[in-house]
Amino acid sequence: ENESTVSITVVGASGDLAKKKIFPALFALYYEDCLPKHFTIYGYARSKMTDAELRNMVSKTLTCRIDKRENCSEKMDQFLKRCFYHSGQYDSEENFSQLDKKLKKQELSASSGNGWTRVIVEKPFGRDSESSAVLTKALKQYLAEDQIFRIDHYLGKELVENLSVLRFANLIFEPLWSRRYIRNVQLIFSEDFGTEGRGGYFDNYGIIRDIMQNHLLQILALFAMETPVSLDAEDIRNEKVKVLRSMRPLRLEDVVVGQYKSHSRGGVTYPSYTDDKTVPKDSLTPTFAAAALFIDNARWDGVPFLMKAGKALHNRGAEIRVQFRHVPGNLYNRNFGTDLDRATNELVIRVQPDEAIFLKINNKVPGLGMRLDLSNLNLHYAARYSKEIPDAYERLLLDAIEGERRLFIRSDELDAAWALFTPVLAELEEKKIIPESYPYGSRGPVGAHYLAARYNVRWGDLDIEQ
Ligand code: BG6
Repeated sequence: ENESTVSITVVGASGDLAKKKIFPALFALYYEDCLPKHFTIYGYARSKMTDAELRNMVSKTLTCRIDKRENCSEKMDQFLKRCFYHSGQYDSEENFSQLDKKLKKQELSASSGNGWTRVIVEKPFGRDSESSAVLTKALKQYLAEDQIFRIDHYLGKELVENLSVLRFANLIFEPLWSRRYIRNVQLIFSEDFGTEGRGGYFDNYGIIRDIMQNHLLQILALFAMETPVSLDAEDIRNEKVKVLRSMRPLRLEDVVVGQYKSHSRGGVTYPSYTDDKTVPKDSLTPTFAAAALFIDNARWDGVPFLMKAGKALHNRGAEIRVQFRHVPGNLYNRNFGTDLDRATNELVIRVQPDEAIFLKINNKVPGLGMRLDLSNLNLHYAARYSKEIPDAYERLLLDAIEGERRLFIRSDELDAAWALFTPVLAELEEKKIIPESYPYGSRGPVGAHYLAARYNVRWGDLDIEQ
């Protein structure tokens, strides 16, 4: 494979994602010798730029990681020499065929044999079932399903990939993985910054489409799926689709939406969502949402899966929390007084930052008396593994080059994901539901707390624990 030739075209090369993630990931792959020997990267965008200008732009985004200092700047120069730019409109066949000519010329000089074409597609995959179907149809006019790589970069995150290992390569979790022992599951995403600079994109989508319908739902599917027949892409995705198709339709009363408002703290004034010039003043787009979801199958009947996602909150993080049931007839109940929740075992998978898996167990506080408290059995990645964790896009781009589809979204998965959220999204918009406001930097609207309480759930909070 390494001897082969590959041409990579980055469409939207001057955009945010290309600069922040795609070029740095490609460079990291090059640095690690993961790219085929003869590779070329073409940036494609509307702006007029020379190759030198593109290289200059890209060079500003590349970094040498701490453990990667060796020969880094030399490698960077070599990498940049393989980057080119082609300016064109996104809807111009002519512009793309000019690019095609250039690519063919490059590839012939390296004499490639039989080739393939793969297209990695980044979200938004439409904004509801209908527009997503239009997009899928348009793609399938030119590409077969196995050439389409729909990316959800959360699937490339180390701890998300590890979910399957945790469940299926250990004896002790899988037997507990059902309504018998699990009381609720929480999927939480929070960012401590707003949509500054991305308001134009964001306002048409909102947090439910931006985070829940894809990133959190994908985690849920991996978390809740049955054991796949094998680790093959199709086997895994078959199981994920089954979970998604078993989900109970989401009702408006099980959704809370919020939008952040300006807030001053420590002499700094943080903006409202609608202060963004690209956002209409009367926008009702949610920047926060919480939802209670249910999977109506034998394994998960009645177990609430609570999702919470928000921008401009008090911290940044993504985590999965599994709260177990109370110990029946617990001998030590009196040690916890009336608040049995304090004694609940909880498994926390911290996807980011500071990756960790920990299990809260009841433990005797050392001493002559008998006092219990909840302590963590802790697998802290930074302490356990010295190697730096690659960025999600590195893994996913490499998988796409290698034709590995396991971590990409199949079209029926996408359809099922939209089927779940489309009705509620339409209802929110039709009824013009006003999002609950919350101050920038806060814990989000109080409605999320009431929603959880309705299902006997208390949101976990890492801040309090660590
Ligand atoms: C993207 C969303 O998919 O994920 C962004 O569009 C969000 O709004 C980002 O900020 C979060 O990704 P990460 O990897 O930084 O957690």
